[in-house]
Amino acid sequence: MPQSVLVLNGPNLNLLGIREPEIYGRETLADIAALCKDAGKRLGLAIDFRQSNSEAELVGWIQEARGKKAGILINAGALTHTSISLLDALLASELPVIEVHLSNLFRREEFRHHSYISRAARGLICGLGSQGYVLALEAMARIVGDDAATGKNAPKAKRTK
Ligand code: DQA
Repeated sequence: MPQSVLVLNGPNLNLLGIREPEIYGRETLADIAALCKDAGKRLGLAIDFRQSNSEAELVGWIQEARGKKAGILINAGALTHTSISLLDALLASELPVIEVHLSNLFRREEFRHHSYISRAARGLICGLGSQGYVLALEAMARIVGDDAATGKNAPKAKRTK
């Protein structure tokens, strides 16, 4: 069975295609999901692609991923700039995390220049639109392969006592 990567999308990303197209482009979230699934097939990864406008739901999904998923790719939307809960959940997952943003945060308002979740991320891709998701999955495939080879992030052996 291929290893599964959780691809999480935060608030307002369900509006892609109609939301500020001059910043985010015309592609919809369904288009990006299809791109990720195609990349997953090519890379031998199963893609579990989700979106929520709720911080609590995102935290719940990250908690469930621990020990089950091989890694997490996350575009947390505006929660990137506000959410210590998401940071804590990502750290607690002990999974490799890659942060993605469609727009280049550093060409935008100053409040978008800080990401709480970057502290939990192996890497960050921003400003490359939907291609950033595909590049992040390519990096994740490499990380997951390396982790499997070294035993890192392998499920912990069960105690017998
Ligand atoms: C975003 C950037 C965030 O600042 C913004 O709040 C979003 C989308 C991006 O993909 O460029 O919702 O994460």
